Amino acid sequence: MATKTRKKLEDLRSQRWYGPSDMRSVSHRARSRQMGYSGEDFTGKPKIGIINTWSDMNTCHSHFKQRAEEIKRGVYEAGGFPIELPAMSLGEIMVKPSTMLYRNFLAMEAEELIRCHPVDGVVLMGGCDKTTPALLMAALTMDLPAIYVPAGPMLRGFFAGETLGSGTDVLRYWADRRAGLIDDETMENVVGGLSRSAGTCMVMGTAATMMSIAETLGMTLPGASSIPAVDSSHALMAAASGRRIVDMVWEDLKPSDILTRASFDNATVIDMALGGSTNAMIHLIAVAGRAGIELTLERFDEISKKTPVILDIKPSGKYLMEDFYYAGGLRGLMTRLTGQLDLTQKTVTGGTLADNLEGAEVYLDEVIRPLDNPLYHEGGTAILRGNIATDGCVIKQTAADPRFHVHRGPAVVFEGYQDLHDRIDDPGLDVTEDSVLVLKYAGPIGAPGMPEWGMLPIPKKLLEKGVRDMVRISDCRMSGTAYGTCILHVAPEAQVGGNLALIQTGDMIDLDIPGRRLNADIPDDEMEARRKAWTPRPFPYERGYTALYARHVTQANKGCDLDFLHAGAETPEPPIF
Ligand code: FES
Repeated sequence: MATKTRKKLEDLRSQRWYGPSDMRSVSHRARSRQMGYSGEDFTGKPKIGIINTWSDMNTCHSHFKQRAEEIKRGVYEAGGFPIELPAMSLGEIMVKPSTMLYRNFLAMEAEELIRCHPVDGVVLMGGCDKTTPALLMAALTMDLPAIYVPAGPMLRGFFAGETLGSGTDVLRYWADRRAGLIDDETMENVVGGLSRSAGTCMVMGTAATMMSIAETLGMTLPGASSIPAVDSSHALMAAASGRRIVDMVWEDLKPSDILTRASFDNATVIDMALGGSTNAMIHLIAVAGRAGIELTLERFDEISKKTPVILDIKPSGKYLMEDFYYAGGLRGLMTRLTGQLDLTQKTVTGGTLADNLEGAEVYLDEVIRPLDNPLYHEGGTAILRGNIATDGCVIKQTAADPRFHVHRGPAVVFEGYQDLHDRIDDPGLDVTEDSVLVLKYAGPIGAPGMPEWGMLPIPKKLLEKGVRDMVRISDCRMSGTAYGTCILHVAPEAQVGGNLALIQTGDMIDLDIPGRRLNADIPDDEMEARRKAWTPRPFPYERGYTALYARHVTQANKGCDLDFLHAGAETPEPPIF
């Protein structure tokens, strides 16, 4: 990339609002004074938008009010003027049916917030699952200087001398509760020890995966993604990000200068080495799509096959994000993968990934393992194809019981989540641990919003016999904190007539993870006969955002973005009259 000349005041985008000698500009300046700022406070300074995904319903971002103040301090220190812009907070736990339904909503909102306000650069405050991809999608589309401030993980959970990981261990204890092995009081004590501080889930779930990916893409300050949310270093990182974005504006360093096909390959290598969330694949495809880069499931699989999982962290391993930080964090982990990463890629520092790794070390080999002693010999996620998923599906192989990696068993089919809920614990359900549980109509459109229902519950009668894993197939997603032999993101989904819709109870299902295959043993002519007899389910949402979403969302293998946000001409800058 050719060296850019530093911007001058008159080049700043915000000057369109504040600069001209006209009535509108007078009005903009007068209204800034209305908020208690004098002309000297904001005249001649880059205006920095701070997109804050704080709310009382985002439990993982409860420190964001404070962090926004620290970012503002940094912006002021560097000679900028901060403008905080609240956006939909998408707290993973409270938003129903799924934050995935609203990822694109936040992406659109953030894009429009940036477009319609007098900002020259933006700080993106995210962390809880969908907030990271949504904010990156918006920043890429607008292509103003942008830096991402990750929320950081919460502290380790504790119960009865044992460390607890969000999601992963509550799911494990809940299985024990359903099996009658623990009582309500014990369960409540587990709940009490799970979430000890602000911050995201502290296992390698979607939040930790996406924060790590954002850093790998070069969109954060070095080391930012591994800092626990309540560590004082996190506040320092927030202030430093505020200082840095002001310089990025003068340098005109934009996402399009940073994000390349090679940086997305780097992100995929890291995702695999972390044993990252299966959700990362959908999000990476969507984010890359906004950069005009097409990522395919095949590319993920190619990288997966040559990248070992070297981070021993739940749900694939045993440690937690706090341990990862003490072990050297993402920078430490990257030093083990220099042979696979393109370290020439640029970052928000203006330097390269190689520059970011200077002085990085691994301090605890048992957490960040050497390449010759990996947790798993290839990447955490595998891509499968076959007549059930003609456009692909995914499995987190590291979180699956190895005895199911090659498996043949009869399908037990549920025609939607309500059917699953109603029958899964029915004592009369004809199911064994060799059965394959199949959930339909839970995909991007069918659910809608592709909720994290993919870790289908083990039937109670099998739980009581000690069964803790089975093969499960669905067109929905699974929490990055979850585990088990769960085949996810089947595309095309049942709602649009994918072959998943045609599977019936009793069909034999063949899973072969090493061979990357997933098939139903159904003759072609029988499949065709079933297709002719199949009728689409009515979609109950006819108004509002959900109707818009259902008309335009793409399938999982395409990233589930809205098609009209991908394609088409650029939206022009707003006229200022
Ligand atoms: Fe927010 Fe897990 S619930 S990161």
